[in-house]
Parts: sequence; C-alpha cells; structure tokens
Amino acid sequence: MKPGNTPLVELRHLAPDGTRLFAKLEWHNPTGSIKDRASWFMFENARRDGLLTPGSPMIESTSGNTGIGLARLAAIHGHPMTICLPDNSTAERKQLLRAYGAELIEVDGGPNDSIEVAKQLVADGEGYMCYQYGNPGNPESHEFGTAVEIIRDWPLEAPPEHAFCAYGTGGTLTGTSRGLRKSYPDIRIHSVEEFVHDPISGMRSQDDPFQPPVADLSLVTDRHEVTKPDAFAAVRATMDAEGHFIGTSSGAILHAALTHLSDHGGTAVALLPDAGWKYLSGPPWVELG
Ligand SMILES: Cc1ncc(COP(=O)(O)O)c(C=O)c1O
Repeated sequence: MKPGNTPLVELRHLAPDGTRLFAKLEWHNPTGSIKDRASWFMFENARRDGLLTPGSPMIESTSGNTGIGLARLAAIHGHPMTICLPDNSTAERKQLLRAYGAELIEVDGGPNDSIEVAKQLVADGEGYMCYQYGNPGNPESHEFGTAVEIIRDWPLEAPPEHAFCAYGTGGTLTGTSRGLRKSYPDIRIHSVEEFVHDPISGMRSQDDPFQPPVADLSLVTDRHEVTKPDAFAAVRATMDAEGHFIGTSSGAILHAALTHLSDHGGTAVALLPDAGWKYLSGPPWVELG
C-alpha cells in the first residue's frame, strides 16, 4: 500500500473563534506516521538508482517513525534491516521495529549519536543507508505528495494563510513549503521546534548543533519553540475537544497553531505527524496506570 491521501479535517471545536484550522491526519499512513511518505520515496529512488539491489542490507538511524516505515518496506522486499536508535526510544517503537524483523542497535545518547553509529556501519560496508537527513527524496515526498494533497483538498475559497509543520529532519517543512508556495506564494511557514534542552520525539531545534542538510530554513517565516508540558496540554485538549488521539509532536504543532491563531487570527493548515499509540508507555498517559 502506497502512503498518502490522508484526510484533511477541520478542528472546529479547538480553533479560536473567528479562525479556521485544518489538520492533515498523517497517522492514516501504512505504519501510522508521516514518515511513511519519505520512506517510500527514498526506498523507491534507491531501487531505481541501483543503490539497493535484491536482498541487499539496509541501515538507518532514526528516533523511530522513519525506521518503522523503512522496516516495513525492507520486510516486503526482502532486505535485512539494521536500525540505530536512541536507547530511550519508547518500547512501542522498538517492539514494532522488531515485529517488522529489524535488528536494533540501541545507542546511548540522542538522535545525533545514533546517526554517527549508523554512518560508521555504512563506512564499514555493512549496508546502504537512505540517510533521511540528507536524502532529497525526503522533502520531495512532501513537495510532490503532501503539499499537492493539501492544495487539492483545501476547502475554503481563499488560500490558507499559515502552515504549521514540525521540524525534525526538515523534510516535511522544506518539501511541503516548496509545494504549497507554488500555489500559495504568500503562505507563512511556521517551524515548530522542541526546546533544545527539552526533547520531543521526532523534533529538533534550530539551536541544535546539527542542522540536517535536507532542511531549507530560508523558507521559514515564523519559528515556535514548544515545551513538553505545553505539547502534552494540547494533546489532552485535542482529545477532549475533537476526539483525535494525537502524538506529542502533533501536540506541539497544535499548541503553536492555536497560540498563533488566537493572537493573530487567520486560516491555517497543520500537519500532524502521528497518533498517540506509540507514546502510551510515557507521559502523560503512563500516569493513568
Ligand atoms: C513524531 C514525529 N514528529 C515530527 C517529525 C518531523 O518530521 P520531519 O523529519 O519531516 O522534519 C518526525 C520525524 O521523524 C516524527 O517522527
């Protein structure tokens, strides 16, 4: 099953009065996240370009969702898969990766340490790495997929004034912005980031020493740093008001979007990367017992 064609739904109860907020529900992808899109593009490009041959091994460094998307494709097409990921990744992610048949190397440290371990394996000739941080297929999946779908499905006569995306590898932010600007040249692009000392799974900050080569931050007009408590509060509020069980980075995105709309008004689209299932073993849900 090909990723994409996820629903664009209005958040009527959550949006501040006089504003319109539409969310693209990216958990409606084959393994439940926006990263199925980049995984598919990078994998297909690698096969087309002869970088992956039948049965050849694959390596990836990821905090989870790209690894899960690639592990699914590796399983379907018979490639042994090794994933380097931070040892504090949630149990659900590790289980899902193992369920898809991937071998895990748990790295002490954050995503940047996982990248270094994976790069060393590639240098040692252990396999091919799509390397989502530098692979043009990552933003292309959004320029030619996500953005095209938003333009096709946008229900209002006037174009959206704002787009809110998480900044992780920069793939979503860069590709979606490029695609949306073709039809909406004036759209404001909001980069939603973690505080550099308060990590949120899948996200990064422009203050991080490592900035992915794939990210074109010149497209960004507005920047929001969101704390974990604010992200969790938005997760809770979204569940209460709309019934959507969103993940933590989606909570951060909606916190930023709701704060901005409430201060400035307007119409917006928010890209929600995944649902809450993979976070049940962590806060805020773990306290429910
Ligand atoms: C849950 C989650 N949110 C946000 C992102 C950021 O998306 P991107 O890598 O396209 O910047 C990711 C990326 O892995 C993610 O897994």
